[in-house]
Amino acid sequence: MNLKEAGIGEGISEVIVTTKSASGEPDAAPIGIITVAEDENKHFVKLYEGSKTLSNVMETNKLAANVTDDAVLFVKAAFERLNETHFSLFSGFPMLKEAKSWIIFDSVFIEKRSESGNFIFQLTPITVKINRKEVKAINRGLNAVIEAAILATRYALIEDNREKEEIKKLIGLYVGIVEKCGGRREKEALRILHDKTSLQI
Ligand SMILES: Cc1cc2nc3c(=O)[nH]c(=O)nc-3n(C[C@H](O)[C@H](O)[C@H](O)COP(=O)(O)O)c2cc1C
Repeated sequence: MNLKEAGIGEGISEVIVTTKSASGEPDAAPIGIITVAEDENKHFVKLYEGSKTLSNVMETNKLAANVTDDAVLFVKAAFERLNETHFSLFSGFPMLKEAKSWIIFDSVFIEKRSESGNFIFQLTPITVKINRKEVKAINRGLNAVIEAAILATRYALIEDNREKEEIKKLIGLYVGIVEKCGGRREKEALRILHDKTSLQI
């Protein structure tokens, strides 16, 4: 199964991963799908310890990658619980209604990296759905929101004050790019990032 048509290509594709717990509760979080070799279906995820996504994947051996370029969804999924209205079900599995495409993967635990504590899973695509095919030029504001959001999730986890200062500086640079190049959704995403974190964005 080639996932290029659904938007997952070689390298790391930033998507919103939806999962469910053994008791059926849905969750959504931005996660990078790592594709080593497109043609050979070599897809992986690296999940940080402590996330709901990790515990759900451990419980169900399944995740869905939802492809979207909505900056607000990325920030909300990272910093708050998406409410039920964002989800629809496919064979009982939660997807994002707004996804341009989604792929359901079976996951197999490969290893826990001792140095980082990350859990690596290999993914096998089971079902693919393409809802909308849209052509869109690169928007630096969107890219900058994604970078700022990744840094903000990291900021929340680390304790080293020097690293925290570095992250703040970098986020400041990305905020400038969002203000210059972003559209309404990107600017709203920044506002949410400001409200949900202790960062002065
Ligand atoms: C763009 C982006 C990409 C991310 N990629 C990953 C990733 O590959 N693995 C991971 O464990 N967390 C990743 N994160 C952090 C999680 O999304 C974040 O910790 C989230 O709060 C986890 O939510 P959960 O507890 O609902 O799973 C990423 C965050 C952002 C903004």
